[in-house]
Amino acid sequence: MGSSPDNQPPNFKQFPAESLNLLQLTDSHLYADPSRSLLGINTLETFDQVLAQALQETGNPDFILATGDLVHDASDTGYKRLLGRLQLTEIPTYCLPGNHDIPGKMKQILNQDNVHCIPSVQTKGWSLIFLDSTIAKSDGGRIDESQLELLRVLLRAHPDKHTMICMHHHPVPVGSRWMDTMVLENPDAFFKLIDANPQVQAVLCGHIHQAFDTEYRGVRLMGSPSTCVQFIPRVDDFAIDAIPPGYRWLSLQPDGTIRTGLNSLPKIPSGLDLASMGY
Ligand SMILES: [Fe+2]
Repeated sequence: MGSSPDNQPPNFKQFPAESLNLLQLTDSHLYADPSRSLLGINTLETFDQVLAQALQETGNPDFILATGDLVHDASDTGYKRLLGRLQLTEIPTYCLPGNHDIPGKMKQILNQDNVHCIPSVQTKGWSLIFLDSTIAKSDGGRIDESQLELLRVLLRAHPDKHTMICMHHHPVPVGSRWMDTMVLENPDAFFKLIDANPQVQAVLCGHIHQAFDTEYRGVRLMGSPSTCVQFIPRVDDFAIDAIPPGYRWLSLQPDGTIRTGLNSLPKIPSGLDLASMGY
């Protein structure tokens, strides 16, 4: 395993001013209908609660990263509602699609004001790259040839910047048979590029609805809890974990090191359907 997450209170004020401070909110699974639930949880309510708590606990992040499966039914209404929530924060927010999203529609609706659906941003000595790992009409993940080329170009353009690559799907198996059927299907091409570009420090993903933090080929790989339902790690079959919605905070340091940790709501939302066999 890689470095363990920091368990101290995550207020960003504790880090040097040059740090790039981020909140990752992932797998919000919102719906067009604000009263709808996923596995017994009202996903809009838990998203609102996690966002409010994260901002209150961490202070003022530089950016929010929303790493896919933002709207479960990929509805216009769901994306517009999410946009409204993110606009209210006034914090620059970078969104990328997951298997439940429709990338074109998502970009068309979300990409305005402080909310961005763009391939990368550079600031404070870091380059953040946002890839689309989705495959149309599939839940699996792939970095297709156009995204590989985009990654190649961005890495070549910023060789002197510490780099974190963000995408929805997990790039290596996490040890859950059912979840690992959706792992990135072409990791060799992806990691070959990473190997050739030592400025890459980390890969951050969504999709797995659980904490994951390891080191692979010299790069830190992180996955994170969802703002709604969590999955039990390292099991063969789909199973809901009895833990609350949560988020990851990251403080990227000028020397390339990463401070990060997880935090969650104080309790499990009532109604969580622990016996569910799938979704
Ligand atoms: Fe997903």
